Amino acid sequence: MEDSWVNSAQRIGADLHLELSGPGGRRAALIRALRDAVREGRLVPGTRLPPYRSLAADLGVARNTVADAYAELVAEGWLTARQGSGTRVAERADPLRPAERTPVETPARARGPLHDLRQGTPDASAFPRTAWLTSYKRALQQAPNEVFGPGDPAGRRELREALTEYLARARGVRTEPERIVICSGFAHALRLLFAPGGVLRGPLAVEAYGLGFHRELLAAAGVRTVPLPLDEDGARVGRLGRERAVLLTPAHQFPTGGPLHATRRTAVVDWARARGAVVLEDDYDGEFRYDRKPVGAVQGLDPERVIYLGSVSKSLSPALRLGWMVLPRRYVDGVLAAKGEREAWASVPDQLGLADFLASGAYDRHVRRMRQRYRGRRDRLVAALAAQAPHIEVTGVAAGLHAVLRLPPGTERSTVKAAAWQGIALDGLAAFRHPETDMTAPDGLVVGYATPSEHAYGAALDALCGVLPPGARRGPASR
Ligand SMILES: Cc1ncc(COP(=O)(O)O)c(C=O)c1O
Repeated sequence: MEDSWVNSAQRIGADLHLELSGPGGRRAALIRALRDAVREGRLVPGTRLPPYRSLAADLGVARNTVADAYAELVAEGWLTARQGSGTRVAERADPLRPAERTPVETPARARGPLHDLRQGTPDASAFPRTAWLTSYKRALQQAPNEVFGPGDPAGRRELREALTEYLARARGVRTEPERIVICSGFAHALRLLFAPGGVLRGPLAVEAYGLGFHRELLAAAGVRTVPLPLDEDGARVGRLGRERAVLLTPAHQFPTGGPLHATRRTAVVDWARARGAVVLEDDYDGEFRYDRKPVGAVQGLDPERVIYLGSVSKSLSPALRLGWMVLPRRYVDGVLAAKGEREAWASVPDQLGLADFLASGAYDRHVRRMRQRYRGRRDRLVAALAAQAPHIEVTGVAAGLHAVLRLPPGTERSTVKAAAWQGIALDGLAAFRHPETDMTAPDGLVVGYATPSEHAYGAALDALCGVLPPGARRGPASR
């Protein structure tokens, strides 16, 4: 350690000295001095700082004063602390003050993150290219010529049949091919359902925490969304009133992570029956469950009161743009009318490729493989936190491709900011909050563990642990 400090000292020039002056005591003075040294480029990115004891002795301050100053600068994003490699000047810290940057565009997003821990995207390196090509080739070779003419807006029958079988077997969905309409994904399904003159109208109840993108899409379609608070059993469906529909993520609440409790699953269907309303079930990652028994689709409770929505965006790739709606009978014609006379959204050859992929068992094999991989990632996240940040509680880990890390109160914003400065892209829970809800979830980070490639994942976890609030981490003191 001493050696590396000597090397660092040589790298940064022998004239570096820290002057502890100004108001606020020794700790504040040391923080200011170190921050200035980084900002002015006297301490360059990657430089390893001296151990607490050495710097404390050099400056004539207490060891804890140095430890506290380092921890504060890690939280601010100027320094990084990693077990085994000490405290260093952050690679991404540059001579600009954080305050000089615009608050909306974080450095990680502006430059492209070093570590992408945003929820949303599956591991792109795991797309099953060979198996997909096999299915695609076989499907095209066997396809009749009419496939290459204008398509049926309901979607290819081969795909609707394969989905009928798969969804019944894997998700407990009760349907038949005539009640399935293929679309380009969940977002497209929402647009079709709430199209002008479409089958549904607002107000639509939505979970108080969810994807802002979906709320915006609905607002653009003139649909008012009414936030439904959440608790440990999922959406509080007892609060539903005069809305015409409710949009839920029952298998794995997005983003907080729990399943909708069994009594609420039946309660929401009872509400829909009593009020002539409808439940929209977003089953975005229902295939990825790890620790608990499979949670089947709510749709199975009443196929005439629930619209089931799914896509390949989490299981295969969001680039394919393929999804499906399983509709109550009374809505089929209206949705087809909203779609138009011809298939204009989902490539018909791709539909045939997916039909073969499902029917041949390749989809099941891929999902099983990915389930194992993501479970491994989830376990590594939990283990890294247990080792490096034992005071952080991890929730929502029984299923899906993301977890929620509970943070000490009041630390979410600064942690997201510190992460951005370290090149880590992730979101705090607040980013998902409905603007009109009176509910406030405890501080937390939504950590997607599917996106980094296998070889980059360990470094992403270390970087994540390095920016968690000092009180939650195993302090650098125990290095
Ligand atoms: C909550 C939620 N719903 C649905 C989807 C799927 O969206 P789409 O099918 O439009 O890609 C996602 C993302 O994959 C999601 O996070």
